[in-house]
Order: sequence, then C-alpha cells, then structure tokens
Amino acid sequence: MVKLSIQDLDFKGKKVLMRVDFNVPIGKDGTVSDDTRICLSLPSIKYILKRGGSLILMSHLGRPNGKKEPKLSLKPCANHLSFLLQKEIQFEPDCIGKSVKKTCELLRPGEILLLENLRFHIGEEYPDKDPTFAKSLSELGEIYVNDAFGTAHRRHASTCTISQYFPNKSAVGFLMEQEVSFLSELLVNPSPPFYAILGGAKIGSKL
Ligand code: 3PG
Repeated sequence: MVKLSIQDLDFKGKKVLMRVDFNVPIGKDGTVSDDTRICLSLPSIKYILKRGGSLILMSHLGRPNGKKEPKLSLKPCANHLSFLLQKEIQFEPDCIGKSVKKTCELLRPGEILLLENLRFHIGEEYPDKDPTFAKSLSELGEIYVNDAFGTAHRRHASTCTISQYFPNKSAVGFLMEQEVSFLSELLVNPSPPFYAILGGAKIGSKL
C-alpha cells in the first residue's frame, strides 16, 4: 500500500478531516497544562490552511469509555489552539450528527472546527460494535489526514477504519511522517550495537 504524505495532496477549497492527538493534561482550572502535543500538530494545521483548505480536527481525551464526561471535553483544547494560532476555533459539542454536519458544510477555507471527544461514542474504540461511527465521521470531510502519532498504536475508528472511505485521499501529516521515519531507520537499518530507550506515562501499552 502506498502511503501518501500531506505534501502529495491538493487542499485548495477542500474540507480536511484531520485526526490529531490532543490527549493532553487539563489542570484543575480547566485549562491545558502541557500543550506539547497541540504544538506538535501545528505544522500540519498551518500547512493545510496555507494551501486553501478548511480543517475539521478530531481527537480523543482520556478514557470516557463511550460515555459523555464533561471533564473530558476538548473545549479547553479549542481555547488553547485559538490562543496559539491567534484565530477563532469553532467547537461542536459532539463529533457526529446533524448539527456537526451542518457546521462542516458551512466551513470556509482557512477556518478550523474542533469536534468533541471521539471517545464519548463507543464506536471510536470499538469500531465493530458500531460500524456506522467511522462512516458518519468520514462524511464530514473530503480528505483525511492522520497526524495522531501518539495514538497510532490504536486500531480505532478515527485512526484506522475511517481510511477506507478515502481511497487516494488519505495521507499522513508531518508529525506522523517524521516519527515513522525515525522509527523505520531504527528498526530497518540499525547499526549495531544500538539501544532504544523508551519512556512515558503508559509505557506498558507502548512496549
Ligand atoms: C496516549 O496518550 O498514549 C495516546 O493519546 C493514546 O491514549 P490511550 O492510551 O488512552 O489510548
């Protein structure tokens, strides 16, 4: 399978559905307390906007297990992204449904919409339990970009199932591309002796 890069697609006038990983810590005051992951998605976001696309961003936050949990809303991420880009970020209190579809239809080039936490729907983590979820998401955009490297090890609706609806119109973003190229070098052509040092809060699932 040929994997397209974000640089292979023409975004002019297109609605781009982009999976990002905004699974970031939210402080007691309800604001983002570490924005590293949001900052890492900025190159892809800026690239698409500069080339005349509009963006529909989707992410998960925490593990709400298919239920709506107000404290796991992505609204603080919309506010933070707005601060970083110094522009309005539209926010929808759900990620599928009539209202979301209407907002996506009205989105114009240069505009950004962030959808609510994908994991408020059981179909995100368990695509087989609700195959309509990935399809409903896919109907929101014309091109699909995956830049959620932190979630690349999950076989979920928005990271995996959805790509079947975008033949020749799905690509990886700059962050994903860069990390995959680092890893490929390490795994395919390592010059021995070499060590790989892994870390992070959830090391078990990464290993
Ligand atoms: C992470 O932080 O490891 C990713 O965002 C994936 O989150 P998860 O471990 O809850 O699937």
